[in-house]
Amino acid sequence: DVVDVRKLVAKGVFTFDPGFMSTASTESAITYIDGGAGMLLHRGYPIDQLAEHSDHLETCYLLLNGELPTDEQKAAFVEDIKAEIAVSDSSAAVLDGFPADSHPMAVMVSLLGTLAAEFHESTNIEDEADRYKAAIRVIAKIPTLSAMTYKHSVGEAYVKPEPGLSYAENFLHMMYGTAGEAPKVNPVLAKAMDVIFLLHADHEQNASTSTVRLAGSTGANPYACIASGISALWGPAHGGANEAVLTMLNEIGDESRIEEFIAKAKDKNDPFRLMGFGHRVYKNFDPRSRVMRKICDEVLADLGVENDPLFKIARRLEKIALEDQYFIDRKLYPNVDFYSGIILKAIGIPTSMFTVIFALGRTPGWIAHWNEMLSNPYKIGRPRQLYTGSVKRDYPA
Ligand code: ACO
Repeated sequence: DVVDVRKLVAKGVFTFDPGFMSTASTESAITYIDGGAGMLLHRGYPIDQLAEHSDHLETCYLLLNGELPTDEQKAAFVEDIKAEIAVSDSSAAVLDGFPADSHPMAVMVSLLGTLAAEFHESTNIEDEADRYKAAIRVIAKIPTLSAMTYKHSVGEAYVKPEPGLSYAENFLHMMYGTAGEAPKVNPVLAKAMDVIFLLHADHEQNASTSTVRLAGSTGANPYACIASGISALWGPAHGGANEAVLTMLNEIGDESRIEEFIAKAKDKNDPFRLMGFGHRVYKNFDPRSRVMRKICDEVLADLGVENDPLFKIARRLEKIALEDQYFIDRKLYPNVDFYSGIILKAIGIPTSMFTVIFALGRTPGWIAHWNEMLSNPYKIGRPRQLYTGSVKRDYPA
């Protein structure tokens, strides 16, 4: 009977829950979110405390291992990452084959494929040590691949990582340094990048993380699973929101037009929404936004661009929206994308690279979830469906 599942739903034996609005797909001990309270915890630690006292690599260790590292463990983790930061000539050769104007997210999907190809035979996903090695490798190499993707897009030579630099410093050096020249990295921007990575590191079962887990549940290669996460993140409904913020700010164009756009956002006959405001889960200030707002102030001040017209529009928009009853009543606060878009723009990162930065930051979360799943009993992810097609019929004789 082709309508079996529908009958089972009617009986309450099956659930029909498009968008997973009320279905948990897994147990997980990594991240806790209480959207109503504006709370985000990694392994129990509040995100704002991690942003203040920890750094991205330490947070990666925490996500993967469940505990903060001792000083020795942290030093060893940092060294393990540094040992894996370089990528092979085969990744560079694949990148060289792309036209310079290729979308960076398309390129990144392919570059993860080069890692899958290179390390497929040597990775036994049943082996705990091999899984950990894969996690280290992908966290280490993703900034290198991201920066190379940028360099390729602007037609500049790839810059090799420097062993003496931190994770975020190396990323900026590989992005903006010149091949063969000593690194010159602005510490304020390096700190901002590190915090951006840290704030994006995990957010439990969002679309891309669930995609990584689903792909991983078939026993697929871990780098291929990360490529599937990058694909899911690419869409504007997920990773593309900070790009949308910049597009909106450019469209507003002048402070005198802010009220007009606020009115449009409030008009129920107009589909326009203020980009960078509101969140599906956080119905209170997103705790990441508070941190990002502070970093945003520091970056704009350090670069001396607070009075840049675009950033003045952003600040004024933020102030008006926070005081407007429409936004207050609906608990629509600036989200993390509002500020990250502004920071990345101020640093000079092209908008087409924004989602790549998100992917870079989210990689430890993806791989930690993949590893958590494989370290515990799990089933292949296999959603059911409600069939809406034709009933059984015979092929015309
Ligand atoms: N501007 C104006 N009004 C808004 C906005 C907004 N940005 N967001 C929500 N509203 C209004 C809705 O019109 C609705 O009003 P109503 O009750 O009068 O009908 C009310 O607020 C609730 O909106 P929902 O769509 O039910 O809220 P939901 O939780 O489903 O949406 C979302 C969350 C998709 C993030 C939404 O706020 C939005 O579209 N924001 C702009 C896009 C954006 O910034 N996305 C990034 C999200 S963060 C991230 O992905 C990391």
